[in-house]
Amino acid sequence: MKRIVITGANAGIGLATAKFLAPQNELILVCRTQRKGETAAASIRLIAPRTPVTVLPVDLHDFASVQLAAMHIQSKFDSIDVLINNAGYYPKRIEYIGQTEKTLYASHLGHMLLTLLLLPTLEMAAEPRIINVSSALHWRGNAQHFFRQIPGLSTFQAYADAKLANILFTMALNQKMESRVRAFALHPGVVATNFDRDIRGFFKFLIEAAKPLFYLTPEQGAATSVYLANAPTSAIQAAKACYFANSRPTQIQNAGATAANADDLWQRSYEVLLPHLSQAATI
Ligand SMILES: NC(=O)c1ccc[n+]([C@@H]2O[C@H](COP(=O)([O-])OP(=O)(O)OC[C@H]3O[C@@H](n4cnc5c(N)ncnc54)[C@H](OP(=O)(O)O)[C@@H]3O)[C@@H](O)[C@H]2O)c1
Repeated sequence: MKRIVITGANAGIGLATAKFLAPQNELILVCRTQRKGETAAASIRLIAPRTPVTVLPVDLHDFASVQLAAMHIQSKFDSIDVLINNAGYYPKRIEYIGQTEKTLYASHLGHMLLTLLLLPTLEMAAEPRIINVSSALHWRGNAQHFFRQIPGLSTFQAYADAKLANILFTMALNQKMESRVRAFALHPGVVATNFDRDIRGFFKFLIEAAKPLFYLTPEQGAATSVYLANAPTSAIQAAKACYFANSRPTQIQNAGATAANADDLWQRSYEVLLPHLSQAATI
């Protein structure tokens, strides 16, 4: 039995991932509100009554809530085997927190803070791994956009930038952690979830046209997350890849996905997060 933390576990791909993993594993559901998390936990207990399920409320925009959840996990559990940074959203509008676009703030910085705070607990597991849910849309991301206010930035571009950041963060983790903890990023496929609720205009039109033809169910969309959580380390490391789709290693499709950009994102993110990191999490 592994102990698995999943963010955004109350809906869509995250909930489907939790349900697949529930029968054999212990779950910690990190959800925006306790109420949504408890509803998800109740639906999981229906299919896996013996599975230990803990719910922790975290809004990834709110670093204090990330710290509280991490403290709770550290105090209650000796080790964590898998952290699945799944939560994400397509922005309704462009907003900034300081110099950081809000989607990047939650999707990248919120997850990086959670990851760094949990690293000491992850390192206590036999084969720890971190799984970051990115998107094929990372191909449109621009590493030069991070931590800057960009005039005329579209919501589509902001989303793509955040998804590129998920991949660069994965690369940086592997560079920094050497073999102590392995990190993987993935594209779940194009999946029918609540995800597109705030998309407007021509992109929405394309989505609606494509839905009956191409969309996967959340259960199908969870497959690569479940594969990466379950597969023996030897099998996934043999691939020497850090980005997966359809449960297979896949080429990263962005020329900006370089070791230098990964290191730059890490350094600049680290500066922002440093006041929120405990001593144990500074690496
Ligand atoms: N659906 C697709 O076609 C697709 C394609 C490529 C990649 N992805 C990625 O897959 C992941 C899961 O998305 P999904 O399709 O399952 O969408 P979803 O059904 O909208 O679920 C997203 C989850 O993330 C949570 N979340 C969003 N912002 C949060 C915040 N600030 N703090 C805490 N939790 C937050 C949501 O909580 P609430 O319920 O409270 O909003 C929800 O639980 C995302 O990272 C997304 O980028 C999806």
